[in-house]
Amino acid sequence: MPDHIYSRVRFFSGENVPLELHKARMVQRIHLRPVRERLEIINLAGNNTFLLPNRDVFLDMLTDSGVNAMSEAQYAAMLLADDSYAGSETFYRLEKTVREFFGTPYFLPAHQGRACENILATTYVRPGTEVITNFHFTTTKAHITRLGGSVYEAVRDGATVTDSAEPFKGDFDLAKLKARVRKLGRDKIAFVRVELGTNLIGGQPVSLSNLKKVSEFSRKEGLKVVIDASLLADNLYFIKTREKAYERKPLNEIVLEISSHADIVYFSGRKLGCARGGGIAVRSEEDYRLMRDLVPLFEGFLTYGGMSVREMEAINVGLRETLDVDTISQTPIFVEALGEMLTAKGVPVVKPYGGLGCHLDAMKFVPHVPQERYPSGALAVAVYLAGGVRGMERGTLSEQRGEDGSETLSDMELLRLAVPKRVFSLSQMKYVADRVGWLYEHRDLIGGLLFAEEPKTLRFFLGRLKPDGDWQRKLVDAFLKDMPSGL
Ligand SMILES: Cc1ncc(COP(=O)(O)O)c(C=O)c1O
Repeated sequence: MPDHIYSRVRFFSGENVPLELHKARMVQRIHLRPVRERLEIINLAGNNTFLLPNRDVFLDMLTDSGVNAMSEAQYAAMLLADDSYAGSETFYRLEKTVREFFGTPYFLPAHQGRACENILATTYVRPGTEVITNFHFTTTKAHITRLGGSVYEAVRDGATVTDSAEPFKGDFDLAKLKARVRKLGRDKIAFVRVELGTNLIGGQPVSLSNLKKVSEFSRKEGLKVVIDASLLADNLYFIKTREKAYERKPLNEIVLEISSHADIVYFSGRKLGCARGGGIAVRSEEDYRLMRDLVPLFEGFLTYGGMSVREMEAINVGLRETLDVDTISQTPIFVEALGEMLTAKGVPVVKPYGGLGCHLDAMKFVPHVPQERYPSGALAVAVYLAGGVRGMERGTLSEQRGEDGSETLSDMELLRLAVPKRVFSLSQMKYVADRVGWLYEHRDLIGGLLFAEEPKTLRFFLGRLKPDGDWQRKLVDAFLKDMPSGL
């Protein structure tokens, strides 16, 4: 008997409907601005969806980070938090949960995922060393390069092919990994990093069988294995549903097996645990001691690490809830539903559908916009104009320029429409598909973007851009023809 119901409830009509296994008991009013206002607003925001005020966003699909719907048990736990600087009971509860969850004896708290990356990079990255990873993440890479290190990607061939049937596109190519280790030698490698639910290639999972091989090889070579478990929940779901050997294995055992292949596991508690915080689970006392002193220096005392005790209580409960398949199924089945609706309209989306969100393939959506004009950034602006929907650019704009100022053209140009856990309804997903479908029919009107103000580091967060030509006005006029109310 399967231990879940999400895939066993069938609609008599035969329709494939993602069924919510929760009910909303607290809601937030959202506002849809008319299209002319949206045009003004996005330009005031420097054509960067990060700079949009939330009051002007109808559906916020920027990210799943810190904006997932929490459970009633999480809210209840927050009331029981022990608010003390040192020795908080709340910390000990979270520490115990992390130990049991990952099977690791040591835990270091941090205020969010990138803080863990700072601590890891500061401890292990030296100028001239390299981190080998399946695929980089923006903040991870920024911390590594900040310290004079570099990142080498050893992801499998085909990982960046958007229309694919490969179930584990986040897997390492073992031959690439081995060749790189042979070429550089152990001393030049800071650590091997495995990112679960690989973010920048479209929330694509890593298989446990691949992780095992990567870990066995790396450890034999004397290399440290670090897992970024921020997107563990989605990856766990895909291991359970796509990797035959784990179909019947309880989720807690799968997590323990994943973690057994790492020396260090870190996570953003804004994603894993559905609250706001982060932490590093450590296997050896030596690694723990190497990193420990950085926590009070950068984060806060060792028993809170920059997190509020209330958030720690919520993460504590959230981690335990990750071990319920019905709970972790909700994002992937909604991503799939949105993906299917978009595909039916001919919109190019990343396949197989991953976790985290639905990813539009901007290179196919707006092939006439060159990468130097930021096609995924332009698509993010166009989607906001077409529906008040806020997505996140994941392409060349999210890259850092080379030392000589040249653009680093991204392997993929994606617009991520994140599906935060348990936040949106099916009718809202239908609305997104409808407006993106409309945009796809008018895709020829979309033009590129140019920087008006470009920060040196992580430029996608705060950079301001302007449209290349007056394509936005033409797009708005076309919208008003079809939707005269402007809504
Ligand atoms: C895979 C991955 N690693 C690290 C981070 C950084 O976490 P945070 O946003 O909590 O700093 C993120 C956040 O999006 C992520 O997706």
